[in-house]
Amino acid sequence: MVTAVYPGSFDPATFGHLDVIARASAAFDRVVVGILNNSAKCPLFSVEERVKIMSDATKGFPNVSVTSFSGLSVNFAHESGAKVIIRGLRAVTDFEYELQMAQTNRVLAPDVDTVFMATSLEYAYLSSTIMKEVALYGGDLSNFAPKEVIDAVVRKILSRGVCNNEQQD
Ligand code: PNS
Repeated sequence: MVTAVYPGSFDPATFGHLDVIARASAAFDRVVVGILNNSAKCPLFSVEERVKIMSDATKGFPNVSVTSFSGLSVNFAHESGAKVIIRGLRAVTDFEYELQMAQTNRVLAPDVDTVFMATSLEYAYLSSTIMKEVALYGGDLSNFAPKEVIDAVVRKILSRGVCNNEQQD
């Protein structure tokens, strides 16, 4: 039984994340998506909202669960009984940071390996940040995320704009 964790900000889930999750769910027995309760960033959605959005978007995968975590990803992996951390790689620009993070994680927890999944070509350009930018200016989001996610993004941006300053510590 191999459990993998997929940590990230997921603010909010995109088709790119869901593509990685679908492929990870086929490759591993169990996948735990971990949504970082990240006080340093300026999230659009609260961590509880991100967990709900991701849970709804992944309900078709019986071996995928979604939760939030604080602190180090390797601790989250240990707590989840995982020996694998999954990260998606979109382009070579992601690589330097991701490699450094994977190597740091390996020093912190030699029993946990990072597995990189090459993002499918059709989503190579896509990020939550790009989706929020397009949303802010009223662009078409239908290529970026499922309808329920888009509706949540539009509602949130209409009510507050892209940056939820109130959630910063
Ligand atoms: O979706 P993101 O923002 O690219 O995800 C980054 C994330 C959450 C995977 C990374 O920031 C992370 O693991 N943060 C928790 C703290 C940690 O473990 N850092 C890695 C050691 S440097």
